[in-house]
Amino acid sequence: MMSVLVWSSLFLSAALILLSSRKKKSGNGNQPPGPPGWPIIGNILYLGTVPHQDFYKLRSNYGPVLWLKLGSINTMCIDNLIENIEEDTSAVQTRGELGEVDLSQYLFFVAFNLLGKLTLSRDLLDSQSKEGQEFVAAMKKVVEWTGKPNLADFLPFLKRLDPQGIKRNLMRDMGCSLKIMSGFVKERVEEQCNREKTNKDFLDGLLEYEGDGKEGPDRISDQNVKITILEMFFAGSETTSSTIEGAIAELLRNPEFM
Ligand code: HEM
Repeated sequence: MMSVLVWSSLFLSAALILLSSRKKKSGNGNQPPGPPGWPIIGNILYLGTVPHQDFYKLRSNYGPVLWLKLGSINTMCIDNLIENIEEDTSAVQTRGELGEVDLSQYLFFVAFNLLGKLTLSRDLLDSQSKEGQEFVAAMKKVVEWTGKPNLADFLPFLKRLDPQGIKRNLMRDMGCSLKIMSGFVKERVEEQCNREKTNKDFLDGLLEYEGDGKEGPDRISDQNVKITILEMFFAGSETTSSTIEGAIAELLRNPEFM
């Protein structure tokens, strides 16, 4: 009798978990759509040895933004990069131009814009946003200056002289980025009371942070909020874009893996 009870309660719990994990088939307000998953393993069985081809097949049912549960890890897959590149190429071609895409620049802007959405909920590439455009231009210059070989790094006595003007230019463009970021943060602080609290971004998290003042600060200073967000852009843009560029180059060299 006891074992019947144990088995039936196990069966009932498994059925409940199964139902609750499978009912999210087409996504809810905050979550993109995705295929139903199994308890514990989630959607792992959907992915075979060539996952990007499986993503491509799932895309025809669920669209370019897909929600998968891989084991216990929720994963959002975004698969419209190639489509965007194709659209932009044909737009350029219809203007009578050659239609070549500078993939490296393109991917940098994709990664940059993704970070803009995650940290600030802003479309920094929106042609209507003057600050967005200025921010992208200033940050791009900062990334370029930091990547330039600097003679003064090898001959420290040249540091004060700054013979290539790298430090000077870097300070100017960094100052410009910080100034624009100050504007973004100020704008958010002003609109915070009216803001929808369900869609929080990284900036909300930093502004709302409350520590105990013992092991760390009780709040994050305005200057640190700005610097932390800038750091996300520096750390997350070129790393991401050059990794994707490298992966695309490898796929082009080895098309049999596509
Ligand atoms: C393929 C993409 C990426 C690669 C290859 C990469 C690589 C790295 C490496 C090697 C470090 C240094 C770790 C160390 O020295 O301890 C680092 C640090 C860091 N990365 Fe990434 N990263 C990537 C993407 C990102 C993204 C998307 C973000 C932010 C959204 C990010 C934020 C950071 C931050 C904030 C640090 C500094 C951590 C610290 O101060 O200890 N990274 N990353």
